Parts: sequence; C-alpha cells; structure tokens
Amino acid sequence: MNSKQVVLITGSSTGFGRLFTETLARKGHTVFATMRDPGGRNAKNASEIRALAAKDSLPIHVLELDVTNDASVERAADAAVAKAGRVDVAINNAGYYLSGLEEAVTTEQAQRLMDTNFFGPVRVNRAVLPHMRRQRSGVLMHISSGAGRVVLPSGGFYCASKFALEALAEAYSYELASQGIESVIVQPGNYETPVFGNTVKAADEARTNTYGAVKEIPAKLNAALSSTAGNAQDVADAVLRIIETPAGEKQLRYLVSPQTFGVDQINALSRQVQGKLLEAFGVADDTKFRKGKAVASV
Ligand SMILES: NC(=O)c1ccc[n+]([C@@H]2O[C@H](COP(=O)([O-])OP(=O)(O)OC[C@H]3O[C@@H](n4cnc5c(N)ncnc54)[C@H](OP(=O)(O)O)[C@@H]3O)[C@@H](O)[C@H]2O)c1
Repeated sequence: MNSKQVVLITGSSTGFGRLFTETLARKGHTVFATMRDPGGRNAKNASEIRALAAKDSLPIHVLELDVTNDASVERAADAAVAKAGRVDVAINNAGYYLSGLEEAVTTEQAQRLMDTNFFGPVRVNRAVLPHMRRQRSGVLMHISSGAGRVVLPSGGFYCASKFALEALAEAYSYELASQGIESVIVQPGNYETPVFGNTVKAADEARTNTYGAVKEIPAKLNAALSSTAGNAQDVADAVLRIIETPAGEKQLRYLVSPQTFGVDQINALSRQVQGKLLEAFGVADDTKFRKGKAVASV
C-alpha cells in the first residue's frame, strides 16, 4: 500500500468527520469527504470544505452519501474508485445519539437510529469491500463509542447500535484478515462536537412522564456528558495514527478517551476470551492477517 492513502469518510459535514477530513488531507492522504445533501442542508459545510481544499491545495473531494440509502452509498464508493483508482480506508463515522427512557422511544425512532448507526456501515462496507478485496488490502474503520462497551440508562438504543456495530466490525476483522484487509474499531469517549445539539429525544413524552425521578436521568446524563467533553482533535489525531500504522500491525480496538471508565478492561478481557474461543473452534489460524497479492477474480 502507498504511504498516501485514499480515504472515504461518512458524515464529513461536521464534528469528527470534518476534522478527520482536514487532518488526513493535511498529511497528503486523498479524502473523499462524503455527506448527505451537499447541495441542500449541507451546502454551507460542503462549500467551506471545498474552499479550504482550494485555498490550501488539499486533496479533498466532496461527494454525496446518505448512509441510509443503498444507491447513494454505492454511487459514492464507485465515484471514489473511478476518480482515485482505489479506496484504501473507509471511515464509518456518520451517526447520532438518541436520548430518553427506552420505553419512550418509538419503534420508528429505534429503526431510524439503527438504519444510520448500524445499517449505514453495513451498506458502506458492502460497497467498498469488492474494491478492497481486489486490491487485497484496505481498512474498514468503525467509529463506535465507549458506549459500544458500557450501557448508559437513557442511552440504551444508542448503546445497542454501537454494540451491534462492534460485533459486526469484529466479525469482519476475523473474516477479512487473511485477505490483507483490516477492520478496526475506534471508541471515542466524550468529545466536543455538534453531537449534543444533534441528539434526538425519545418521542413518547406521555410515557416518560410516568417515570417519577427516573425521568430526570436523561437530562442528568446529558449535562454530565456535555460538561466533561474533550477536544475532538485528539480523536482525529488518533485516527491519523491508526491509518498510518502499517498493515497487519493495527489493533482491533482503540479506546480514545480522557477517562477510561473501565472500557479498556472490558477490551482486554474480551481479547483474551475471543482468542480462546477462536482456538476452541479451530479457526484461529483462518483469522490471522496475511498480506496478499491483488487478484482480479473477486
Ligand atoms: N462526540 C462524541 O462525544 C462522540 C463519542 C463517541 C462516538 N461518537 C460518534 O462519532 C460519530 C460522529 O459524531 P460527531 O460527534 O462528530 O457528531 P456530529 O457533528 O453530529 O456528526 C454526525 C455526522 O453524521 C452525519 N449523518 C447523520 N445521519 C447521516 C446519514 N443518514 N447519512 C450521512 N451522514 C449522516 C451528520 O450529517 P448531517 O450534517 O447531514 O446531519 C454529521 O456529519 C458518530 O457516529 C457518533 O456516534 C461521538
């Protein structure tokens, strides 16, 4: 793989995705900064990114990509490959937080959350993998959360979406390693981005109002989270380091957080348990990373 990589990022309009875009491009990586509706709701964000790229001669291309739409995802992946000839890294970053007592979250709200936070990466990975498998190299990166390992009351559906994402990303890491493709999980703690302003609230207030003191939990948690948020550039710097780590040397999980809350311990124990499990089922060797030559038959 070239040291300068071709990176497709979802949710690049704001927050982490925007910072990843600029941080990686400033190091010479070609970035496809994707976002939904760059001609409408994200027109200002798209034009700011294009202006930055023009001013500082950065290799950034803005593309439309709505992670909830199969055709939009496939179009963006194909456009990136048509332009750059390959895609080395896909960063599954688009996502949002849903706050509220679980009983007050409607089925439609829960489905919409999963469609973005979980099925979005399902779509993106399926769109880029045929290209990566032909290359016999690539990185699927998943922006999970500490909440992909621990559970917050009033964040149950968000945690479920990130737990699901972690399971998928881990299974991918086992299945793709022998083809020279890595799947990695980034678990940010609590960082200052527009995520708090973009939080969706559980819709069924009538049910929330029957919970007595417990109904104050979402507000307490949101206040605690927004008052302790770290500098989001730390996460972008970590993503750059991960991407620049040689193929085959990356970890499965990276916790990037001012406070660990024991997530590091869960990761360490899980690594041991999973290792034993793969041995016990006789598949440990099949899940080892191997650098491969590109094949045309995939
Ligand atoms: N900030 C934190 O403390 C923190 C901690 C752990 C994990 N995370 C995760 O980090 C990721 C980025 O969040 P952020 O903190 O940077 O917040 P953010 O600024 O709100 O960014 C979320 C991004 O996702 C995009 N998005 C939402 N739905 C989409 C869709 N259907 N298709 C394409 N893009 C879509 C948003 O685009 P629009 O502008 O179009 O809405 C926005 O660009 C999320 O997955 C979040 O769960 C954040």
